Amino acid sequence: MNRLKKEFEARFSAPPELLVRAPGRINLIGEHTDYNDGFVLPAAIDKAIWFAASRRSDGRFAFAALDLGKFFISENATPVLQQNHIWANYLLGVVSEARKDGLAFGGLNLVFTGDVPLGAGLSSSAAIESGMMFILNELYELGLSKMDIVKLAQRGENNFVGMKCGVMDMFASVMGRENQVVRLDCRSLEFEYFPFQSDAFSLVLCDSGVKHQLVDSEYNTRREECEAGVSILKKYDPGIASLRDVSPAFLKKHASELPGKIFQRCKYVVEEIHRVEQACAALQNGDFETLGKLMFETHRGLDLEYEVSVPETNFLVEEARKNGVLGSRMMGGGFGGCTINLLKTNDVEVFSEKMREAYRRHFGLDLKIYPVRLADGVSVQK
Ligand code: GLA
Repeated sequence: MNRLKKEFEARFSAPPELLVRAPGRINLIGEHTDYNDGFVLPAAIDKAIWFAASRRSDGRFAFAALDLGKFFISENATPVLQQNHIWANYLLGVVSEARKDGLAFGGLNLVFTGDVPLGAGLSSSAAIESGMMFILNELYELGLSKMDIVKLAQRGENNFVGMKCGVMDMFASVMGRENQVVRLDCRSLEFEYFPFQSDAFSLVLCDSGVKHQLVDSEYNTRREECEAGVSILKKYDPGIASLRDVSPAFLKKHASELPGKIFQRCKYVVEEIHRVEQACAALQNGDFETLGKLMFETHRGLDLEYEVSVPETNFLVEEARKNGVLGSRMMGGGFGGCTINLLKTNDVEVFSEKMREAYRRHFGLDLKIYPVRLADGVSVQK
């Protein structure tokens, strides 16, 4: 924070008016269910983007990305999609969507840094978008609710950046709570917190180091495949608006009506929505074994049916299984990123060592391992 303040002062010749922390996220279970109106079970984590910000009277937007060593300033108050400063689009997108809603605000000076690893599936981009909207709301007293901030951040990514992501990442970054996961119904946006603070069990991420170049295009394709499934299934029940409305039995009955790949995608999603509910029940009963089994099942579906895993994340899940974890699966959009592992706290050290060793032996790569703590969502820092 001190470095951030100093950098801000050095660049803008005055101390920042506001300091904000916006965390990355994990997702315990419920992958690729958010844009199918299903359930997710994410949490904010102790890795975050940190911002220093002040208002600007000329309406322009000046951003310094410390970790990239990059600086951007807009020509005027109107956000324009950047080709040379792709990173700035995550911030400008939020401005663009907020303007569409007629929200009145001026310009901004912003410096940011963070320890959310990029491209690791921990949603650094959602943290940036959520943080940006939170800052505009604070500095210009826009009177937005937390859920308004979530939705505007998501719209920025959907409509400006062009990634048709669901609501989960921004929701987790804004609404997260220390030592809790939160089940979100992505249709109604109702949510409920579940404590996750057993000393006996830990969550550990293994970062495959594979960056998901494919993810945006493949992600949007998966969305379209789900929609294609819905439009066919609708013919047999007009009440079906999304895969949330499809039961496993109904899907089975109409399996032959769906092209093979579309059926596979739908089957995974329908089962995954159900798994989140089972996972919540397991959590409530303190039944970590069942929770772990469900995580393995999710991975199987993501790999074989949804086809978003890669050899590296498959390897990490299988090695984790051999090393006695309760559950392991790839996390996030796919095509690289992290696996999330549920294991006994006593086993974390030996597990980490064995995983590093195996990854080096098999791929010749250093495996980064992050133990995670569940943290509060976006907030003002003193
Ligand atoms: C990405 C998206 C989320 C969600 C996950 C998959 O992280 O941004 O909205 O769809 O993938 O669960």
